[in-house]
Amino acid sequence: MRVLGINALFHDPSACLVVDGKLVAAAEEERFSRRKHGKRPLPFSAWELPEQAATWCLAQAGLRPSDVDLVGYSYDPALAEPADALGLNDPWDHLRQMYAREAPGFLAEALPGLDPAKVQFVQHHVAHAASAAYAAPNSATGSVLVLDGRGEATSHLAGQRVGNELRTLASQRLPHSLGLFYEDLTAHLGFLRSSDEYKVMALASYGSPRMAAELRRRVYSTEDGGFRTSGIDWTEFCPPRGADEAWTSAHADVAASAQLVLEDTLLDLVRWLHGQTGDELLTMAGGTALNCVANSRIVREGPFSRVWVQPAAGDAGTALGAAVYLSAMHGADPEPMAGADLGRGWSDAELEAWLKTAAVPYERPDDVADAVAAALAQNQIVAWFQGRAEFGPRALGHRSLLAHPGHSGNLERLNDVKGREQFRPVAPMVLAERAPDIFTSGPFPSPYMLFVHDTKPEWRDRIPAVVHVDGTARIQTVDSTVEPVVAAMLRGFERRTGLPVVVNTSLNTAGRPMVDDPRDALECFGSAPVDLLALGPFVVRREALFRRGDGR
Ligand SMILES: [Fe+2]
Repeated sequence: MRVLGINALFHDPSACLVVDGKLVAAAEEERFSRRKHGKRPLPFSAWELPEQAATWCLAQAGLRPSDVDLVGYSYDPALAEPADALGLNDPWDHLRQMYAREAPGFLAEALPGLDPAKVQFVQHHVAHAASAAYAAPNSATGSVLVLDGRGEATSHLAGQRVGNELRTLASQRLPHSLGLFYEDLTAHLGFLRSSDEYKVMALASYGSPRMAAELRRRVYSTEDGGFRTSGIDWTEFCPPRGADEAWTSAHADVAASAQLVLEDTLLDLVRWLHGQTGDELLTMAGGTALNCVANSRIVREGPFSRVWVQPAAGDAGTALGAAVYLSAMHGADPEPMAGADLGRGWSDAELEAWLKTAAVPYERPDDVADAVAAALAQNQIVAWFQGRAEFGPRALGHRSLLAHPGHSGNLERLNDVKGREQFRPVAPMVLAERAPDIFTSGPFPSPYMLFVHDTKPEWRDRIPAVVHVDGTARIQTVDSTVEPVVAAMLRGFERRTGLPVVVNTSLNTAGRPMVDDPRDALECFGSAPVDLLALGPFVVRREALFRRGDGR
């Protein structure tokens, strides 16, 4: 059973291939097109398909479009309603319905040989739910919670997986939407909607939630597993911020208030769901599940003993969910997700050919992990390109920028390399077995950077670059059996510095998608003040480029 999943309609177009229940490949179109998020999230871009990602997913398995048994498209136009009927101010929304209805034909054009009759529509939130409920380890029975901006006519799904069956227990009809509530504030605070919500979360830690009580009158859970969010005019709370204007304490206070009310409402929804199912496991997806501060409160204060968040929790993950869902419905037992490294990768010989083409001086050290650890210990910044690219928004040790966490100036240095706002934190990667020595009050392991932990007081001055203003850190724990090269690098760094932690942020520069292929890595290295590029087993040193002068 070969099932291709497609996410195209709202944002973050992506594709995923599932063969006999196993995740074979998944990638976002942005990594190929080099346009961040693939496209703008506008109704008239809804026709755009993840053509390159889908073509690559099939090629990765040696399949042609005609070999596919089913295609799952993560939106069902039959469930949509006019925007007016949903209480949305979205005059072009009908284009989405039209493009979705025509998607089978569009896909058959984009993937020659594909039979359009094989394309099936999967309800948007069912696709999100499947991406978590079927992909989590040990998840044959578990509850699932999905929250995002919107799907066809709802913004939420609370459900339960039992075996291969997925039951919906509650859903919230639009216009009420915790995702749109947060998106609207993101835009009001001068950031990019459907993209920069994590900046609001970061800004929240600089503010005081002094307006939470007022917000709670408009954003609250109901007794039936749903919630209300309508009727918020953000100008009542703070003036809008222009994209180039400095933020003020009022902006931070509104962010803190909205974050607190979001967390409280999510906790109510989680408690309601647990009351229905009594499960031990909660899985989560949907863009709201990328809010790692809220996720951590759900772990700490919620009733579920185990919480798992799908790493591609945003709409990109619905390609995975649509494919897994159709597989399961047709009898293929879903295999849990072993890691997020489902994207493109290259052999050592291919990587060396790229280096030769670029005519840069390179070397092949005996041990690339140790060579990188030595450079990091000397406070160099390293571009780290290893294995297959990550699926989802986080760099997890495959396309990363690495630095020494012991120098507080490295936060500013990395934000300068990446052209980011200085209030944005960078995150630590840490060996799984060492993490509880340094961090507390969060789940272990935490391999996908979807929770925040507190840094123990005695460690805060030792690793200042990765500790946020409120003492928290969004950690990635590294399992040496899953990520042996990253683990070896971390061990080499600890041997030299006594610190089992390395700064990890995504390998990209301002406004660009994460590096995906070797050319992207070389272009990023060439244009940013990075000291060393570790491309598979090879290293390129900036000082060697300068020494040669002509770059040949
Ligand atoms: Fe979504």
